[in-house]
Amino acid sequence: NFNPMMYQTNDKSPLQIFVRAKKKINDIYGEIEEYVLETTTFINALHADAEIVDKAERELFESYVFKVAAIREVLQRDHMKVAFFGRTSNGKSSVINAMLREKILPSGIGHTTNCFCQVEGSDGGEAYLMKEGSDEKLNVVNIKQLANALCQEKLCESSLVRIFWPRERCSLLRDDVVFVDSPGVDVSANLDDWIDNHCLNADVFVLVLNAESTMTRAEKQFFHTVSQKLSKPNIFILNNRWDASANEPEFQESVKSQHTERCIDFLTKELKVSNEKEAAERVFFVSARETLQARIEESKGNPPHLGAIAEGFQIRYFEFQDFERKFEECISQSAVKTKFQQHSSRGKSVSGDMRSMLDNIYERITIFRNLKQDQKNLLTERIQGTETQMMQVTREMKMKIHNMVEEVEEKVSKALNE
Ligand code: GTP
Ligand code: MG
Repeated sequence: NFNPMMYQTNDKSPLQIFVRAKKKINDIYGEIEEYVLETTTFINALHADAEIVDKAERELFESYVFKVAAIREVLQRDHMKVAFFGRTSNGKSSVINAMLREKILPSGIGHTTNCFCQVEGSDGGEAYLMKEGSDEKLNVVNIKQLANALCQEKLCESSLVRIFWPRERCSLLRDDVVFVDSPGVDVSANLDDWIDNHCLNADVFVLVLNAESTMTRAEKQFFHTVSQKLSKPNIFILNNRWDASANEPEFQESVKSQHTERCIDFLTKELKVSNEKEAAERVFFVSARETLQARIEESKGNPPHLGAIAEGFQIRYFEFQDFERKFEECISQSAVKTKFQQHSSRGKSVSGDMRSMLDNIYERITIFRNLKQDQKNLLTERIQGTETQMMQVTREMKMKIHNMVEEVEEKVSKALNE
């Protein structure tokens, strides 16, 4: 039922900030690489001439070639990473599926996700799995098989399975967003390992809560640790399963304001990662399951409300889209800053270093050239001196010979006369 028309380029997406920045910095690094290679060839040629460039300098230049190539490789792989956390069954996997517009990750009642699952775009229309520590591509034919593969694997809960899904099936994957799904924070004692292994390079965190209950201590503790290890992480809070509130309309508003207040307090007063205004823009009331159903209907060409679970679908659906918009803005800006700022300053320092080295070499060449000129002048003078001397000698010799000849002639004629 896949309809590619649904996933056409959305160039107004805030993700384009990242996409364009990535293209630009990759182009710039391409130029830097060319420049470094050209300069190195030149430097090596000078080195062959000795005297001007020494071995250490030549090696330093060659190290720039590797440095720039390494940065380029990292740049090409750079992406935006979002990680989802929350208690078991709150709907983490469902939220990711709703954003991907397809049921990719297994979801269900009970403890479903049993290790970290990363969903990222693959080129060439292929879908496959890769387990941690292996390069083997395990082909995925369909979702059911993927779910089975994930369930059968007896994996350590903090290990990572990478799911490669065709980019063209979802604009978020196309634009280099990578999703990380996790087991419930309440089922693990290794939260520190989780953070060290999977969270340090995340651009955005999404805390998925169950709107039917309230934030638990395990969820709070997890984010306390995250915010100790990372300076000001970007955290969004989704109060999921909000469709359930339709059953109790008389309490809906009061429950919503209670949740909102707690979430904002958590971000501002407890974690101190946001101010009031920003925190208010980071808390949403959604239904992941309903959004996913609506999107699946849309992809079949049906109206989205066919996916509705309860009264008030439209508001929840808009709120989910609002979340996605704010999320896209936040993740692309954050990723540009964290990923590219450092590369652009490294690029600047590499080109600065090369420039000052080249300036030094140029100076040396100039001095060398002047020296050679002086030597040449000296030589010329000497040669000129020798020439004059020779001429003098020659003239003297000529005179001598002339005199000798005259003397001999004189002697000969004298002898004849006698
Ligand atoms: P674990 O992987 O076990 O940690 O759970 P999870 O957080 O990934 O939850 P999952 O997405 O598997 O959802 C658990 C169950 O809740 C599934 O049966 C979902 O269909 C259901 N569910 C998820 N989101 C919603 C929602 O917004 N509303 C309702 N009514 N059900 C939901
Ligand atoms: Mg799950």
